[in-house]
Amino acid sequence: MKCALIVLFVFVASAAAISNHWGERSTNIIWMKNDHKIYLNTVYAVPVRGFQISRDVKFPEVVHKYSQNITYIEAIDNFRNSSGGTPIILSGGPRFNYVHLRIVSQLNYGLNFTIKIYGK
Ligand SMILES: *[C@@H]1O[C@H](CO)[C@@H](O)[C@H](O)[C@H]1NC(C)=O
Ligand SMILES: *[C@@H]1O[C@H](CO)[C@@H](O)[C@H](O)[C@H]1NC(C)=O
Ligand SMILES: *[C@@H]1O[C@H](CO)[C@@H](O)[C@H](O)[C@H]1NC(C)=O
Repeated sequence: MKCALIVLFVFVASAAAISNHWGERSTNIIWMKNDHKIYLNTVYAVPVRGFQISRDVKFPEVVHKYSQNITYIEAIDNFRNSSGGTPIILSGGPRFNYVHLRIVSQLNYGLNFTIKIYGK
């Protein structure tokens, strides 16, 4: 029985796609300072045998002093198995007005990530 439980646990852990999030949604109804979605995109790459693929997301494309401050970032792995990639923040992110994200695939696999950025 104990053995069966451990096997089940390992299966569940390895079947989970890696989706990451950073920061916190900002909701303040009284002061009307809610954040809202400022970026939504799906990053897709076909697999290439013998390679890890990386894709960068830079938001906004041009940063200026009126750029909205980021509150929350979600990187949702659309692979529903253990073959998904790993998203990392290289610079910026929540509390900054820009972010540079990189998504790296596993060897021999592609990518399908949905990136959502909220700001205010
Ligand atoms: C972003 O945050 C900085 C530092 O808190 C603030 O000075 C600036 O006004 C904010 N920008 C916006 C667009 O709210
Ligand atoms: C990526 O994943 C989304 C969500 O599961 C799906 O709708 C879409 O077709 C996928 N894109 C490709 C090119 O497979
Ligand atoms: C996991 O899912 C993705 C997208 O559907 C697919 O390309 C990949 O081959 C799958 N991995 C395995 C081990 O089946």
